Amino acid sequence: MATTEVQVVTDEVQAGAQRQQRIPAPTVVVILGASGDLTKRKLLPALFHLEQGGLLPKEFGIIGVARRDLTATFACDMKEHIIRFGGVEPDDEKLDAFIEKVSYHPMNFDDDDGYENLKQRLDAFDAKHAVKSNRVFYLAVAPAYFSGILHHLGRHGMTQSEQAQVRVIIEKPFGHDLASARALNAEVNKELTEDQIFRMDHYLGKEAVQNILVFRFANGIFEPIWNRNYIDHIQITAAESIGIENRGPFYEKAGALRDVMQNHMMELLSFVCMEPPVSFEADAVRQEKVKVWKAIQPIPITDAVRGQYGPGEVGGQQVKGYRQEDRVAPDSQIETFAALRLGIENWRWAGVPIYLRAGKRMASRETEITIQFKQPPMLLFQGKHSGPCADIQPNRITMRIQPDEGISLRFGAKVPSPDMTICPVDMRFHYATAFGSYTANGYERLLLDAMLGDATLFAHRDGVEATWALMTPVLEAWAASKPEVFPNYASGSWGPKCAEELMARDGRRWIKA
Ligand code: BG6
Repeated sequence: MATTEVQVVTDEVQAGAQRQQRIPAPTVVVILGASGDLTKRKLLPALFHLEQGGLLPKEFGIIGVARRDLTATFACDMKEHIIRFGGVEPDDEKLDAFIEKVSYHPMNFDDDDGYENLKQRLDAFDAKHAVKSNRVFYLAVAPAYFSGILHHLGRHGMTQSEQAQVRVIIEKPFGHDLASARALNAEVNKELTEDQIFRMDHYLGKEAVQNILVFRFANGIFEPIWNRNYIDHIQITAAESIGIENRGPFYEKAGALRDVMQNHMMELLSFVCMEPPVSFEADAVRQEKVKVWKAIQPIPITDAVRGQYGPGEVGGQQVKGYRQEDRVAPDSQIETFAALRLGIENWRWAGVPIYLRAGKRMASRETEITIQFKQPPMLLFQGKHSGPCADIQPNRITMRIQPDEGISLRFGAKVPSPDMTICPVDMRFHYATAFGSYTANGYERLLLDAMLGDATLFAHRDGVEATWALMTPVLEAWAASKPEVFPNYASGSWGPKCAEELMARDGRRWIKA
């Protein structure tokens, strides 16, 4: 197979890259659960990247809130984390001024006085800057705390404001099944209106994910063939080479289906399969996504397979199996890999199987979507072609979400020779080649959008419930029956045999295996 780099039309790229800058009104971001990993690895680096890009308002503050008293060290520690996790130079000229905007408020999440003091701090910010600032509360805490925190914020007058906007970002997991997601939605809606709620799925902040919509709807040539008449099947893989990374207690209650399939994978699928929305307004986009999820047929349990990693080798390093990870039961039945075969019963997709797989400790980190087109009629070339690439392969569009973001198109080409030798070649577009390297982690865009009140890239109540409605029967069936043999795939492999069999049943195979 040969590869052809696509020559990018640089002038147009640069013109297209002229972005309209949107700067939020004065804002204070309050991170509840600020002592956790998310704050240091993702949120603070992302907020600083926004500052570097000149996308934050002049009157801006960050208040970290958590139980432990980190008042003396928080801001200073965050500076280190921004440098380490944000790829920022220690002498960046904007860093010290940004860190001055970071403060810390120790508080128990059920302590009324703590909330009262928090409110005073917010009011003091407004008085100091002579503004009525918007507030963004980021709940980076376990879901068990969501409703208690919102209730206290409400009781202390922090969920509503007449002169400014109050918005709340809620991290996943949003519920652990359909019933709990519904209950949580009902609780959250007691304190907040739907337009104040920003349910985070960081996949939607990834450039290559947003580009799926641009690829489909800003180009004239793909949409006419984006349907059951031309497409044979779709594969989506989210493979991670990392294990559960010290998150044993969380993962033991989650598993791959809850951790990534219900949210990240479903979001990817909806972008690939939705109808064009009438606009990019939040409601228009979210309605189309929900239509896709609702058109997915209940998943027969035979179309869902699971796996758990055993010891093995990843990237030349020996690694332990899931059951040997810290704070994981030695006989755990939790899946670290899941694969599903789905069917969308609508005019565009009926009869086109969609295969999803997500797993930890796989051979390499790759999130990829493959659109496999139908095999062309072979008659013309029968008996005429030869050589090492003798088989004519169907066209394929691959959207590489990470790493090495890009899109490639595979087609057959004649190998220069006196005979008719046909070989598949790839035409590739790389983000890094076209636009330069990009350090954003996905949270930048979403934090900015939440500050601006743009909910297009956030999950909606209906969507969360629709995706849980699909996953819950599988979760229940898996809970009711023990998997045959766990662990069933070695770390560093492409997952369990049952995932290959899921494809083989249909006469297909995973493109990467
Ligand atoms: C998170 C999951 O939502 O997504 C993690 O909880 C997973 O288990 C992560 O590793 C994957 O995100 P990314 O951006 O690294 O692909």
